[in-house]
Amino acid sequence: MINDLWYKNAVIYCLSVDTYMDANGDGIGDFAGLMRRLDYLHGLGVTAIWLMPFQSSPGRDGGYDISDYYQVDPRYGTLGDFVEFTHAAKQRGVRVIIDLVVNHTSDQHAWFQSARHDPKSPYRDWYVWSKKRPRNANKGMVFPGVQKSTWNFDPAARAWYFHRFYDFQPDLNTSNLHVQAEILKIMGFWIQLGVSGFRMDAVPFVISTKGAQVRKPVEQYEMLRAMREFLQWRQGDAIILAEANVLPSTDMNYFGRSGDRMHMMFNFQVNQHLFYALAKGDARPLRHALKATQRLPKTAQWGMFLRNNDELDLGRLTKKQRESVFAAFGPEPAMQLYERGIRRRLAPMLDGDRRRIEMAYSLMFTLPGAAVLRYGDELGMGDDLSLPERQCARTPMQWSTEPNAGFTKSENPILPVIHEGPYGYDHVNAAAQRRDPESLLNWTERIIRMRKEVPEIGWGRFESMATGESSVLAIEYEWRNNWALFVHNLGSAPREILLTVKAPEGSGKLLINLLSEDHSQAQADGRHRLLLEGYGYRWYRVGGLDYLLKRSDIDGST
Ligand code: GLC
Ligand code: CA
Repeated sequence: MINDLWYKNAVIYCLSVDTYMDANGDGIGDFAGLMRRLDYLHGLGVTAIWLMPFQSSPGRDGGYDISDYYQVDPRYGTLGDFVEFTHAAKQRGVRVIIDLVVNHTSDQHAWFQSARHDPKSPYRDWYVWSKKRPRNANKGMVFPGVQKSTWNFDPAARAWYFHRFYDFQPDLNTSNLHVQAEILKIMGFWIQLGVSGFRMDAVPFVISTKGAQVRKPVEQYEMLRAMREFLQWRQGDAIILAEANVLPSTDMNYFGRSGDRMHMMFNFQVNQHLFYALAKGDARPLRHALKATQRLPKTAQWGMFLRNNDELDLGRLTKKQRESVFAAFGPEPAMQLYERGIRRRLAPMLDGDRRRIEMAYSLMFTLPGAAVLRYGDELGMGDDLSLPERQCARTPMQWSTEPNAGFTKSENPILPVIHEGPYGYDHVNAAAQRRDPESLLNWTERIIRMRKEVPEIGWGRFESMATGESSVLAIEYEWRNNWALFVHNLGSAPREILLTVKAPEGSGKLLINLLSEDHSQAQADGRHRLLLEGYGYRWYRVGGLDYLLKRSDIDGST
């Protein structure tokens, strides 16, 4: 095994340049501002930053409607600023990955403009056209309730064009070899400017067959291998993190049987069942999801997350399960979105209850994979439900008690700063939390620090063990002759469990608590009796703190 696979234990922090920090006072976050916050991010301990799209865009879908892949949107700065930023991140040992949005372009992109105005344009076939209105024109919308169709008539082209997402996002004809070549060119360009890889947007749609004649879209998985090969040749340590909300039975098609396709995928299966488990105070659905997604190539990795830039998509749960998550975390229609999800941020979903927030994050950090955090969640930021769709959870970062939370000197921030209620910036901001040793910010910093000292999570084999209590999840990792154990009580009531650890006899007798003084010595029968408060969590080293002396240099040896 190659020890250098950095993404196996990455702590990834996702943010949007436009809402993070505005340096020039025009109300819009920019690269100059973000660069000044690099020390904050470095101090928090994140190992990689994932930037949402920042290329030129009319900005009608949070930048996911790109009009020029080779430019920084002038509102955020220049290509020069971008390179200063990736360079400054690199100096701090922080990697940068960026969104790669190539399923569609903006309808303002020069390619689409050329394609629609001229049937002979070389770009005509870069998009997906139909002379007649396709029969399935009102099927397959990604944003039901907001998006009315997947085909629109374009008067200039005198033809219908396909758009899986909003009508201003015409789909690229990704089966076209010229389009495929262009995608590689885009990747090569940003690699050259200092990024360590891509979060690839909407992957199942990118690789799908498209067209009016296509009844049942087919995924062309080989495309993924081609992209990976290109990337690995250009820069060996660059990765692709795929956004693919798919069923466990197809996971291996995305990773590739021999790990030759996507390096990473977000684990949507675990994400949805985790929220169901939290809603019910029952760890079993989460256990099942972990099992269902356990097998993956050795070099591949899951991205584990709680909330992201979109709604919490619960589309893979049964209706009944989804209803119970709605009831627990988003009971009002205004909190829900697209008939399948919840659009709130994490802290308000958990009623701002510190015990539950800590437990949820502790869980995320200890699940098998790399952790992906959302900006502002380290402070427990809230949402603004008066904003449309997913905007509610994309409000500016709350830095201090200065006007507009110190995000901008302008009186007109790009999105309103949360200024009232329990999540207003008077109460929730980085400056105040930095000064308070017990703040969520400092808790997050400490937990990230500890997470990095437990590489077993990213590298090891895991087993989720019977605890005798449905609300308690216990996961034990083994890697290179070291063991670590994590126990979480998803329920509100205290629970006592009896646990047999998997580590061999001698080492299994002692559990050293990594976060407090409450260690455990096995009973005479070899089992551990652990008492957890409601929403309690424990991180244990199995055996003792001399584990590093026992760690072997290669896998599979004891
Ligand atoms: C992904 C993004 C989402 C965007 C969509 C279309 O799902 O996460 O924000 O709207 O793709 O690009
Ligand atoms: Ca600005």
